[in-house]
Amino acid sequence: MTQPTDLNGRVVLVTGASAGIGAATARTLARAGAAVGVTARRTERLETLCSEIEAGGGTAFAASADAASLDSVREAVAEIEGRLGPIDALVNNAGVMTITPFAENDVEAWTRMVDVNIKGVLHFLSVVSPGMIERERGHIVNVGSVAGRRPFPGAAVYSATKFATRALSWGLHLELGHTHGIRVTDIQPGYVETELLSDQPVTKDAWDASWEGRRTLQPEDVARTIEFALTSPDHVTVSELLVRPTDQPT
Ligand SMILES: NC(=O)c1ccc[n+]([C@@H]2O[C@H](COP(=O)([O-])OP(=O)(O)OC[C@H]3O[C@@H](n4cnc5c(N)ncnc54)[C@H](OP(=O)(O)O)[C@@H]3O)[C@@H](O)[C@H]2O)c1
Repeated sequence: MTQPTDLNGRVVLVTGASAGIGAATARTLARAGAAVGVTARRTERLETLCSEIEAGGGTAFAASADAASLDSVREAVAEIEGRLGPIDALVNNAGVMTITPFAENDVEAWTRMVDVNIKGVLHFLSVVSPGMIERERGHIVNVGSVAGRRPFPGAAVYSATKFATRALSWGLHLELGHTHGIRVTDIQPGYVETELLSDQPVTKDAWDASWEGRRTLQPEDVARTIEFALTSPDHVTVSELLVRPTDQPT
């Protein structure tokens, strides 16, 4: 069945919506008429976001989920579908980044990035995609990164997780596109001002200093590209979108 170009009444699940790109995407899509289901671990923030969206006349529902746990993801998706109905589009956005030189051998940080950025994406896909396959329609947006095209020092493992997302997006297009009517988009932002590095104050300060006088992307800039992909005509799959700050030289 053909998917509409507008978002009115479409149910969109946005993961990692308690901050940054996810929160901006939920707001943007709700403003465009989507009923948004939002997940993350910090429930209070999600509730505040939903209240704000509903106060503006939109529809939103929150369910807490740890992306690294398949059981937690199953419960959250069931809650959201119970309230809003079958999910038309999934924005796989939840992610973590630790800048750590490989020689420091920080297996804990590597594991966390793999658990959220790769396994978390697969967990949501495994719960949400069967319904899309059954209905022969749906849109999956994976939030990758410019680091999924080109690694940089201190981010070998983070980049590897985003290369994985990109490969997954490409493979999903091949397997779910013409056979099941599901569109797949890999969004690849450059540097966006968010809380992504906030648990690494020394690194964050250094990054902030290096961006002094240069314009970064804002979460809303990425949200607009996600809206663009979701509202393209049904026969058009926006497979990849690389969006960088004009002032980013890498
Ligand atoms: N900022 C950038 O420059 C940039 C560039 C390229 C790509 N990206 C990608 O964009 C996505 C969003 O990042 P952001 O920049 O908006 O960062 P952010 O402000 O730190 O937001 C990250 C979101 O992911 C959620 N999250 C983290 N671990 C989770 C877990 N275990 N289970 C569920 N949710 C989890 C967080 O929610 P809770 O902590 O409440 O769970 C939060 O809502 C990530 O995939 C990131 O890799 C960011």
